[in-house]
Amino acid sequence: MAETQPVRGFRDLTAPESTRTAALEAAARETLSLYGFSEIRLPTLELAELFVKSTGETSDIVEKEMFRFEDQGGRALALRPEGTPGVVRAYLDKSLRQQGGPVKLYYVGSMFRAERPQKGRYREFEQIGVETLGNPHPAADVEAILALNALFAALGLEGRVRLRVNNLGCDTEASCRPAFRDALRAYLHKHLDTLCDSCKRRVDRNPLRVLDCKGDGPRLSAEAPRFASCAACKAHVDQVSALLTDNGLTHAYPDPTLVRGLDYYTRTVFEFAGTGLGSQDAVAGGGRYDGLVKLMGGPDTPAVGWALGVERLLLAVEASDPSFKKLEAHRGTGRDVFVAVQGTEAPTLAKATRLMETMRRFSIRAGGGLFASSLKAQMREAGREEARWCVIIGDAEAAKLPPTCQLKDMTTGAQSEVLIDAVKDAIATSLSKKEPTHGL
Ligand code: HAM
Repeated sequence: MAETQPVRGFRDLTAPESTRTAALEAAARETLSLYGFSEIRLPTLELAELFVKSTGETSDIVEKEMFRFEDQGGRALALRPEGTPGVVRAYLDKSLRQQGGPVKLYYVGSMFRAERPQKGRYREFEQIGVETLGNPHPAADVEAILALNALFAALGLEGRVRLRVNNLGCDTEASCRPAFRDALRAYLHKHLDTLCDSCKRRVDRNPLRVLDCKGDGPRLSAEAPRFASCAACKAHVDQVSALLTDNGLTHAYPDPTLVRGLDYYTRTVFEFAGTGLGSQDAVAGGGRYDGLVKLMGGPDTPAVGWALGVERLLLAVEASDPSFKKLEAHRGTGRDVFVAVQGTEAPTLAKATRLMETMRRFSIRAGGGLFASSLKAQMREAGREEARWCVIIGDAEAAKLPPTCQLKDMTTGAQSEVLIDAVKDAIATSLSKKEPTHGL
């Protein structure tokens, strides 16, 4: 591997991917704050034990995919493979429960899993996730799902993502998951010789995981005992499904093939798959995890959440809109105006810099070639940056009284001479940015 290459499964992101990622994050922040979620920023590194305990010792993530290492002090650490355990840890550490009422958080950041890299699957990938802690009602599950759906809609993905919902039951009611686990364990013991090595190891510790195995799972699901949850769990997820329907969200329910790969789920689980994405089509997934806060040493606290994969969501957006037009609407970067300078006189340069500063005060994204190249090269740069307008300031026009410049509409190509003092207002009107956002 050349020294300049990133490690396998890790990537450098430059424009346009970096710009699109930022636009997607902007769209998500906008939607999630509309739904009342506030941001939590979490550490990238945690004690490995956090994930062993919460994500699950027998989950693929912990068993095979975690980047673990020992630090100089001999502590077992891990790069976070997912965000939920960190949120629960922070919820307890910061006593967020004391705020009263449910706590609604979202996070944006890199996660790390040592999976085999392929399109839509990376070793460092970005998740945007939400967690609602402290609300047991099915309406909380539905609100989280609706927020995710609203984001898909904002990105123009209506009809291009399919939602599946399932009920995984609970561990508190003996007749629910514990009874199923016993029945499944007994069944698997009878078929032990047909199982793969990792499933053999899981039969006693976590027989449910066997159904999630890519090899053994589909083969066994047909004959293995079928899960029937307790009445309270069924009523909960039935209500989630009914509320989703009330809100016009088409979904498959119950979908017994949806088991999810993490151990903490109870009752509701769900996944959104994108169309035309090939094998890595799970764009987002989540569910309820009513036992996790208690498992981590906290008080009994119901919780529900989801996470979406940013790279996969971008692939879904690209499949529906290859020019990324809808996403552009959320663009936090890019160029409104490119200021090109033809000349070397100090007053010309001063006028150009001052004009850019004035426009930025009105949130007009102004920039320029910073006088480093010929006019032709600067115009090429303006085109490359897809600037909406171009202002050309030359020595002769800048020396006029009052000084003028050329204003070029980059969409139509039309160009006219205008007063430098009138440029900002003309562009602000065309971009509807008439109020200053900050002082000089
Ligand atoms: P997850 O299903 O493991 O759930 O991951 C959520 C999303 O992250 C997936 O649907 C996928 O889009 C993306 N993803 C996962 N692995 C990769 C990868 N190697 N490369 C690219 N994208 C990937 C969780 O992580 C749970 N914490 C979700 C949750 C939150 N449940 C409750 N609250």
